[in-house]
Amino acid sequence: MKMTGNGLLQGKRGLVFGALNDQSIGWAIAEAAHREGASLVLSNAPVARRLGTLNSLAEQTGSQVMWADATSDDDLTALYAQVKEDGPLDFIVHSIGMGVNLRKNVPYPELNYAWYQKTLDISAVSLHRIVHHALEAGVLADSASIVALTYIGAQRVFSKYSEMGDAKALLESIARSFGYRLGKRGIRINTVSQSPTRTVAGSGIDGFDAMFEFAERISPLGNADAASCADYTVMLLSDYSRMVTMQTLYHDGGFSAMGISDEVVEGLAKAFPPEQ
Ligand SMILES: NC(=O)c1ccc[n+]([C@@H]2O[C@H](COP(=O)([O-])OP(=O)(O)OC[C@H]3O[C@@H](n4cnc5c(N)ncnc54)[C@H](O)[C@@H]3O)[C@@H](O)[C@H]2O)c1
Repeated sequence: MKMTGNGLLQGKRGLVFGALNDQSIGWAIAEAAHREGASLVLSNAPVARRLGTLNSLAEQTGSQVMWADATSDDDLTALYAQVKEDGPLDFIVHSIGMGVNLRKNVPYPELNYAWYQKTLDISAVSLHRIVHHALEAGVLADSASIVALTYIGAQRVFSKYSEMGDAKALLESIARSFGYRLGKRGIRINTVSQSPTRTVAGSGIDGFDAMFEFAERISPLGNADAASCADYTVMLLSDYSRMVTMQTLYHDGGFSAMGISDEVVEGLAKAFPPEQ
């Protein structure tokens, strides 16, 4: 379904981290925020300059691009100094993740700890850094909204999600910890727990297709795609959700409320016929 804009973010200015290419969830969020009237700054790690196509999104949405590694205090300080020149931010989207051991297929009990730290730094601590440096720069407007993307692997074990389950649990905890501290200014921070989605980060997970197909067959509405995630996120960035904070919000077609579905029961019966 293609939504038409309703001006939900008219007059707001936001910063979106993590749009790499047109498959990225962050890309869909930037497109939807632009459609709803926001003006945007887009950011990604310098390495994404050659790996992705962020400049074309910037052209399409009339946005500025500012390159910053979200694990670097220096990069984030410089980024916010530049952002501040044009005024305050009404929202920030964190759509960043990478599992280093996961990419290299290292089994969970044998994690390389230097890589594990890097995974946590990129995928979770970066949210703390992004908020911390925004506060230091004094660039966050009162009643701003911050959203980060997460996955239900934070609550439940998905065998192939490995270290990323730990990273997402930390990410969601950081959102709660900051939510408490930012509440006095009316600033809210939530995480959106999204269905498996075919993106560069998603496909980097061994067994991603099985996770995607399983969720598709369990979820009453089917898997949520990036465009619908973007529409939901826009609502969280808007004033309509002004009293919602510190939540992990499931955007997953109903997956998180399910145990098993007829489709999976029937598939399993065929795959594992009872012994005669
Ligand atoms: N794809 C899925 O199935 C799925 C499901 C639930 C949640 N998510 C989450 O959605 C978010 C976006 O991922 P995606 O699926 O759109 O994949 P993606 O690969 O398009 O986006 C990940 C982004 O992280 C950026 N990044 C990596 N290291 C960085 C660093 N040091 N500094 C700044 N940026 C850095 C990448 O350049 C990329 O733009 C991630 O948090 C991911 O965990 C994805």
